[in-house]
Amino acid sequence: MKRTALVSGGTRGIGAAISVALNDLGHTVVANYGGNDEAAKRFTDETGIAARKWDVGDAEGCERELGAIAEEHGTISILVNNAGITRDGMLHRMDRAKWDAVIATNLSSLFYMTRPVINGMRDQGWGRIVNISSVNGIKGQMGQSNYSAAKAGVIGFTKAVAQENARKGVTVNAVAPGYINTEMVAAVPEDVLKKAILPTIPVGRLGEADEIANTVSFLVGDKSGWITGATININGGQYMA
Ligand code: CAA
Repeated sequence: MKRTALVSGGTRGIGAAISVALNDLGHTVVANYGGNDEAAKRFTDETGIAARKWDVGDAEGCERELGAIAEEHGTISILVNNAGITRDGMLHRMDRAKWDAVIATNLSSLFYMTRPVINGMRDQGWGRIVNISSVNGIKGQMGQSNYSAAKAGVIGFTKAVAQENARKGVTVNAVAPGYINTEMVAAVPEDVLKKAILPTIPVGRLGEADEIANTVSFLVGDKSGWITGATININGGQYMA
């Protein structure tokens, strides 16, 4: 069945792969993005998937844009909360701006994005929410107190909302990727990546974005209705939670 899907941060990296995968399943996909107009235009030109710009850390913006999308395309039945940023730094040198930015984009956005769509899903008795966490939300990561806290929060949110909506046909799950071959990971200092991170990944390489998208496609399927509140780790064996 063709459904309306919203992917936050859906024009680059893991989000772009998810948007394409859901589009390939036949859904109507809208890809949110926060800042990079050029990348969004290229993404839409290449895939035909609509891109829409707003800041997921802005509550009013989320309400306004999600309302407009539902008006245009019908009830949003699939929501993938993927948008995320890093502002790495040791806590003893971290300023408040780095903390606030990561918490707003990576964690508060889950409330701002889910709250406006949850009643539509409940009313129709079907919905799929997939929240993108991270291996670093599970094991903790030096230099990422902000990011690790937000990504751990994503898992708590997932479990609570999963329980609240289990009887309404709405599943809520988290996917926790490890280090994926994206611009976000490319921003990690090269010597740190080579010396401190890659040797800890048993599979011996970074993951690929479509290896995450594949699991999201599985979770949003009709046959995945009994999977809820789960966190699926996809990290090349780096951390076996
Ligand atoms: N794992 C293990 N060791 C690490 C590490 C990591 N991820 N990051 C840094 N280190 C080690 C360094 O190798 C270095 O060790 P040596 O002193 O033995 O050389 C030591 O910690 C200090 O590192 P720096 O010299 O780089 O210190 P700094 O204060 O300049 O910067 C830092 C510290 C901010 C943590 C910086 O090293 C950094 O950005 N590291 C990467 C952090 C990281 O893994 N971010 C993940 C981004 S990708 C992502 O978040 C996606 C996802 O979900 C997985």
